[in-house]
Amino acid sequence: MPRKLQLGLIGTGLAPRHLYLPAFDALRHRIDLVACTNRTRAKAEEYAADAGIPVVHDTVDELLADPAVEAVMVSLPIATAPQYVLAALRAGKAVMTEKPNAANTAAAKRLLTSAARYDAPYLVGENYAFMSHAHQLARWVAQGRLGDLRTVEVRDVTVMDQGQPWFHTSWRHQPAHVGGFVVDAGVHLAHVLREAVGDPVEVRGLQALQEPALSPVDTIAVAMRFESGALGTWSSCFSAPLDGPKIRITGTKGVASWTPTEAELVSRRGAVTRSEPKEDSFTGQFRHFADVVVSGVEPQVTPADTLGDLALMERLVKGR
Ligand SMILES: NC(=O)c1ccc[n+]([C@@H]2O[C@H](COP(=O)([O-])OP(=O)(O)OC[C@H]3O[C@@H](n4cnc5c(N)ncnc54)[C@H](OP(=O)(O)O)[C@@H]3O)[C@@H](O)[C@H]2O)c1
Repeated sequence: MPRKLQLGLIGTGLAPRHLYLPAFDALRHRIDLVACTNRTRAKAEEYAADAGIPVVHDTVDELLADPAVEAVMVSLPIATAPQYVLAALRAGKAVMTEKPNAANTAAAKRLLTSAARYDAPYLVGENYAFMSHAHQLARWVAQGRLGDLRTVEVRDVTVMDQGQPWFHTSWRHQPAHVGGFVVDAGVHLAHVLREAVGDPVEVRGLQALQEPALSPVDTIAVAMRFESGALGTWSSCFSAPLDGPKIRITGTKGVASWTPTEAELVSRRGAVTRSEPKEDSFTGQFRHFADVVVSGVEPQVTPADTLGDLALMERLVKGR
């Protein structure tokens, strides 16, 4: 058994509370949470009590100077995170930061260039990249199980309203990052799509703000053309309910559908193959971070990969 990763948390907001706690619990044998910090200290103290973290630091600088911390998870507003990513790398700490890489593609490229000066590992935590059934979708396509690709549909449609905790975060109301929720959430499906069929070579789209609280854009409808010749559509809307597959790919031999909980392949003759995620994706993400830092495993997803997800979303929102 490898030694345990000594992890500090920068930011103890919604994502750490709602998404990371079960993963940290499942990874007690691989990760020690040694310290945390948050702009509002009381929230860090509350989180530390719930997560069993022994030390709360007043500031990020203090946490980065703590020799007990070998790696950090940065969970801050999208446009705020990069400066802390660089500060942590400068301090010699390995970094995983939340998706997307930065506020926009240009800022993400600058961050990548600056981060390359440091030796410590730098990863972007896109948890959908740790869903085994996303890899299965890509394998079906690569193995020719769908035949020649014909159409690709992506539907990122959901209700983001008062009932959702994310709706209430002030930095999402007047976002300093490109594309509001469409990009913030969309990078996940962009990753699954790009792994399966690559980037579209052409996009032409429309955008709208239909629910004023979801500024600057909450709806896009985009046509896409892929190198394979397949044509596609991407619809995002954050003020309407929709069930069903988020991604559907058709080909001459079958159709594959994908949701965050299941992938399904139906052959032209009607044979059905299903694939489900093997574990919680945040558990996979943090285990991988521990493997990279402690055991020197090659990163499965690089910041250049996740920059591609952001770049695609920015193209889709711009409509070209
Ligand atoms: N992978 C996923 O599925 C997923 C889901 C949700 C979010 N995320 C990502 O997680 C990150 C955090 O999102 P969240 O929903 O957890 O947001 P959040 O609840 O608002 O948490 C952000 C934290 O950053 C702190 N903060 C805000 N502005 C700051 C500043 N200028 N300087 C330093 N600290 C600042 C806040 O401190 P205060 O307590 O003082 O406000 C808060 O604790 C984002 O990058 C988001 O994209 C990922």
